[in-house]
Amino acid sequence: MIALVFAAALAQAQTPSPAPIVGQQSAQDVWDKRCTFCHGQDGKAHTKKGRQYKAEDFTKAKWQKHTTDEEIVDAITNGVPKTKMPAFKEKLSPAEIKSMVPFVRAFGAKK
Ligand code: HEC
Repeated sequence: MIALVFAAALAQAQTPSPAPIVGQQSAQDVWDKRCTFCHGQDGKAHTKKGRQYKAEDFTKAKWQKHTTDEEIVDAITNGVPKTKMPAFKEKLSPAEIKSMVPFVRAFGAKK
């Protein structure tokens, strides 16, 4: 019996795992599907909605500097009061929201 369990565990360990966590979307997917509408593909918010709602340009060094990782998580989770930034806590998992932090940070490195 123990040998059987061991063999099963071994077989499992050898099975190549498919997508990391089932159901979790990549930051790029989330961005493309839910964020580009306002923030633009390039994070500059040079979209019709981005301009209308006055979304920030995430490529600006100044924005990157005065915004903390916690603020990014909070903004995506709960939305930004008095702006059109929607809350995503019902739509994205905490892990998905967290994965957006390095993604948003990466815009700062692009010009
Ligand atoms: C309906 C338009 C809209 C959508 C969709 C949207 N945002 Fe926003 N977002 C805004 C606006 C407007 C603000 C407030 C102005 C600002 O700070 O950029 C904002 C603010 C933010 C901030 C905080 C900026 C700060 O200065 O603290 C982050 C981070 C952010 N959005 C990320 C995202 C991510 C990630 C998504 C997709 C999951 C997303 N947004 C979807 C409009 C939108």
